[in-house]
Amino acid sequence: MPSLSPALPFSFAGNAEDAQRLKRLIQQAMQLLAIAPLHQPSLLNLACGRADETGVLLESFAWPESGGWYLGLDLRPREIAEATKRWGRSWEPQGRIEFRVADASLAHQLPEEKFDIIFLRHQNFWDAPLIWDQIFRHALERLAPKGFLAFTSYFDREHELALAALESLGAQRCLSMRHANSRPLADAPGKSVDRWLALWQHPQT
Ligand SMILES: C[S@@+](CC[C@H](N)C(=O)[O-])C[C@H]1O[C@@H](n2cnc3c(N)ncnc32)[C@H](O)[C@@H]1O
Repeated sequence: MPSLSPALPFSFAGNAEDAQRLKRLIQQAMQLLAIAPLHQPSLLNLACGRADETGVLLESFAWPESGGWYLGLDLRPREIAEATKRWGRSWEPQGRIEFRVADASLAHQLPEEKFDIIFLRHQNFWDAPLIWDQIFRHALERLAPKGFLAFTSYFDREHELALAALESLGAQRCLSMRHANSRPLADAPGKSVDRWLALWQHPQT
């Protein structure tokens, strides 16, 4: 797929490069697992914030020009408004993108059916384990047969906790890989952008 163009520039210097590094990481994982892009996929991006990764998710998981359906959810209205301005029309006319202010722990109540790809960038498990346990649980319930749940993590320990949570929910781990070129962040030791990527499938897949 040709690069999807955001209608607004990214808010912070470095976001575009981070997104391109994430794209290479995802494509490496897809190659390792022999995952091909999908025709008209449905993608759910949970706790998506500004969803700077929207373009690279679509470019990675959807066949060029196939279109599809992408839904991003976050609790923060400001981030959702910004994501909508940046990406809302960028997949038209083939594909549809929508962002909603919504609680990801209630994903089981979504009117939509199952999703082929469910993505969580910089999951925040250790901040609120009970809520994130619900987010992961309901995400798995919303995963289409043969679909993938993918998340990235900022920290080693946070990643380990999220891996353990998914394992205890019975999910099938396909891959967990350290990002060799993740950009270190100065606000906390051991924190870097998309430091880890993990991919999961439904237990019954
Ligand atoms: C660490 S930030 C990651 C944001 C974005 N995915 C990124 O990588 O820039 C965590 C995000 O989770 C969102 N969040 C936390 N709990 C949530 C919930 N129950 N439902 C939806 N979003 C939630 C926050 O509003 C915040 O945007």
